[in-house]
Amino acid sequence: MGTLKKPAETSAPIHDLIRHRWSPRAFDSRPVEAEKLRSLFEAARWAASSYNAQPWYFIVGTKDDPETYHKVLETFVEFNQSWAKQAPVLAVSVAKLKFDDGRPNRHAFHDVGQATAYLAAQAEALGLSAHQMAGIDPEKARKLFNIPGEYEAVSGMAIGYAGDPASLPEELRKRELAPRERKPLDSFVFASQWGKGLPLLNSK
Ligand SMILES: Cc1cc2nc3c(=O)[nH]c(=O)nc-3n(C[C@H](O)[C@H](O)[C@H](O)COP(=O)(O)O)c2cc1C
Repeated sequence: MGTLKKPAETSAPIHDLIRHRWSPRAFDSRPVEAEKLRSLFEAARWAASSYNAQPWYFIVGTKDDPETYHKVLETFVEFNQSWAKQAPVLAVSVAKLKFDDGRPNRHAFHDVGQATAYLAAQAEALGLSAHQMAGIDPEKARKLFNIPGEYEAVSGMAIGYAGDPASLPEELRKRELAPRERKPLDSFVFASQWGKGLPLLNSK
């Protein structure tokens, strides 16, 4: 079976990496090559961040380290566990909530998100997929991995080669095959006032 493609239907041209990235729930059992895994975190490393604080951390479990893999899986809510356990690599992102001088870093979660987005784009470039998850238990992650108090688990991630949608239960298979959807540009890009679309975006 060829890998399922779900290209974004766009109102303007965008880079192929962004057009083709999507979040599968079916994963192939094929392991992720070590050098590719390294590239994913190298891409995350080069994200921009407030004061270059780089507040991102990742806890990673691969299937060839079953103990860590299962600990990461346990931090996911049951629904996410049900499909993510197919993926050969699981991860939890963690934010450092304060700068080194002790001031709160209001953009810590933002910057962890940026690093994760870079990782996901790099995954797409390497033929891999990364599916992010809000459905995790941050306190469980704290306990299982001894995450210190000034850090907080942000999201889970399943990483691997997208698999056969037929491997999913029917409801998830339907969602896997559905087209990707987004709100229109004028619903979130504003100009003169909140809610007023940027006129430039409408000129063709
Ligand atoms: C921060 C974040 C949290 C998410 N949480 C979950 C989740 O807990 N479970 C899940 O199945 N998908 C989750 N997703 C995937 C989204 O549902 C998905 O990205 C969205 O529907 C858009 O689809 P696309 O990524 O294929 O374009 C999450 C995505 C992000 C970025």
